[in-house]
Amino acid sequence: MKPLPSFAAAILLGSTLTATAGPMEEAAGAEVFKRCHACHSADASKNTFGPSLTGVVGRKAASLPRFSYSDALKNSGLVWNEDNLRLWVADNEQLVPGTRMRHVSISDRAEQDYLIAYLKSLN
Ligand code: HEC
Repeated sequence: MKPLPSFAAAILLGSTLTATAGPMEEAAGAEVFKRCHACHSADASKNTFGPSLTGVVGRKAASLPRFSYSDALKNSGLVWNEDNLRLWVADNEQLVPGTRMRHVSISDRAEQDYLIAYLKSLN
């Protein structure tokens, strides 16, 4: 069988993902997470340059006790639900002007899905 063009694969995955983010999405998300890993550990006990992202899905922004967050993020009032995580990885500086996190721009819906599936697996 010929491989699907990636946009078709994205549509197929996108339609089922919310209900069933499985091991394949998590693995794809681990790939995307390589763009975050320089600053973020998946190990709950470790903050590196950025705060640990274990358990981040559903967490209040800037709520890890041992990380020194920017005032901008502390005052954002955000909770890291899926919608806010999408906005954050698409353009963190637009979501929270003044954040200390270097600008990232992951606007591809499928990549966001993978990344969120991976982050959920860290809970
Ligand atoms: C160059 C380093 C760097 C990179 C690369 C980076 N981050 Fe960050 N991240 C940070 C820093 C520093 C903060 C704290 C920001 C603040 O206090 O304003 C942060 C904060 C966060 C938060 C908020 C966590 C909390 O406890 O409120 C999330 C979520 C996050 N980053 C996700 C990501 C994801 C996903 C990627 C990859 C697409 C990524 N980051 C890439 C440095 C980075």
